Amino acid sequence: MSKAKTGLGLIGTGNIGQMHLLGIAALREAGLVNVEIAALCDIDKESLNRTADLYEVNRIYDDYNDLINDENVDLVYVCTPTSKHIDIVKAAAKAHKDVFCEKPLAHSCPQARELLAVAKSEDIKAGVGLVLRFDPFLLYAKKLIETKDFGRPMQASIRDDQRFPVDYGFYTQWRGDKSIAGGGTLIEHSIHDIDLLRWFFGDITSVYAKIGFFSEREVEDQASLLMTHKDGAVSTLVSIWHQVDRQNERSIEFFFENGFITIRLETENRWLEYHLQNMLPVRINVHEANIALLEYLGVHSKNIAPEALDALTTVGTERFPAQSYSFIKAIQADEDPSPNFLDAIAAHNVVDAAYESANKNRVIDLL
Ligand SMILES: NC(=O)c1ccc[n+]([C@@H]2O[C@H](COP(=O)([O-])OP(=O)(O)OC[C@H]3O[C@@H](n4cnc5c(N)ncnc54)[C@H](O)[C@@H]3O)[C@@H](O)[C@H]2O)c1
Repeated sequence: MSKAKTGLGLIGTGNIGQMHLLGIAALREAGLVNVEIAALCDIDKESLNRTADLYEVNRIYDDYNDLINDENVDLVYVCTPTSKHIDIVKAAAKAHKDVFCEKPLAHSCPQARELLAVAKSEDIKAGVGLVLRFDPFLLYAKKLIETKDFGRPMQASIRDDQRFPVDYGFYTQWRGDKSIAGGGTLIEHSIHDIDLLRWFFGDITSVYAKIGFFSEREVEDQASLLMTHKDGAVSTLVSIWHQVDRQNERSIEFFFENGFITIRLETENRWLEYHLQNMLPVRINVHEANIALLEYLGVHSKNIAPEALDALTTVGTERFPAQSYSFIKAIQADEDPSPNFLDAIAAHNVVDAAYESANKNRVIDLL
C-alpha cells in the first residue's frame, strides 16, 4: 500500500464494530496511526446513520460490495455476525483490499482454510480479531516466561464464564442461532482461549471434549476440553455460558516445573500473580501490565503524549485499540499482521476436533 493515509472501511456497526471505531478514532486523534475512517456499511440503517454521524463519515452503504469497491477504501474491517465473514472476506480479497476479520473466521476449519487460500491467491494481507494477544496481563506473562527460569510448562487451566450473550451483554439473538454463529460458547467465545493456550504452550496435538446444551438452544453452553501440547504439557479448558447475573470472568493458571502464574481477566479488579521457586509471590497490577503491552507494540511510554497513552491503554477496553494499532502499522509497513489467518486456522482446527471428540466420545489426534 503506497498511500500515506490509509482509508479504512468497516462493515458491521454493531457491538464489536463500535469497539473498533472507538479505538481507531482514539488512535487517530492521538496521532498514533495515519488512518481515515473512510466508509461504513450496515444493513441496519439506524445503526449505520447513528455511527456515521458520530464519526463524521459520509460514505455509507447498505451493500458491503459497494464499500469494498469504493476507491477511498484500502482496508476492510469485517465485523458482521460470523456467517457473513466468508462472503465478505472473499469479496474484499478479490477487490485486492487488505482485511481485518473478526473471530471466528468461519464456522469450520475447512472454511477458514478457504479464506486463507483466497487471501494468498489475491496477495492481500489478512489479520484476525484474536484480541487476547493484546491483553496487557497476558503479554506480561509472556515476558515473564521468556525472562525468568520457570522451567518446562506442565499444565495450563482456563475457566471462562460468561452470561449467555443473547439476552445479556452483547444482546444478540444470532448468538443462539447455529446457522449464524456456527456454535456456542466454544467457537464463539472460547476460540480466544484455544488461541491463548496454543500461543503459550505451543501446538495442540490431541483433544478430548464434552459439550452440553443446558439452555436447550441450538448452540452449546458448556464445553470441557482436555488437550495435549507438542512438548508434553496438558491444558484444560472449561467454557460456560450460564444464566447467572455476574461479570464475565477468565481465570487462567499456568504451572511450570519451577513456577506458577495465575491471571484473572474480565472482572473490574484484574491482576496477575506469579510465584517462582525460593521467592515470595508477586502481584502485578494493570499499570505494570500496561508497560508490557507498550513494549510489545514498540511504543515507549516516556516518549508519547498522555492522550496517546490513554488511547492504547484505557479507551473502551485497551486490547482493541492496541490490536488496531498493531494491525494498521503492519499493513502500512507492508508486513504480515499478527495474529493472522494461519493463527485462526490453528485455533479452528482444535475447535473442530473438540466438536468431533464430543460427538464421537473419543480422543481426536491432531498434526
Ligand atoms: N474479538 C472479540 O472479542 C469479539 C467480541 C464481540 C464480537 N466478536 C465477533 O464480531 C462479530 C460481530 O459480533 P457483534 O457482537 O458485533 O454482532 P452485532 O450483531 O452486534 O453486530 C453485527 C452488525 O453487522 C450487521 N450486519 C449483519 N449482516 C450484515 C451484512 N450483510 N452487511 C452489513 N452489515 C451486516 C448487523 O446489522 C449488526 O449491526 C462476530 O463474528 C463475533 O463473534 C468478536
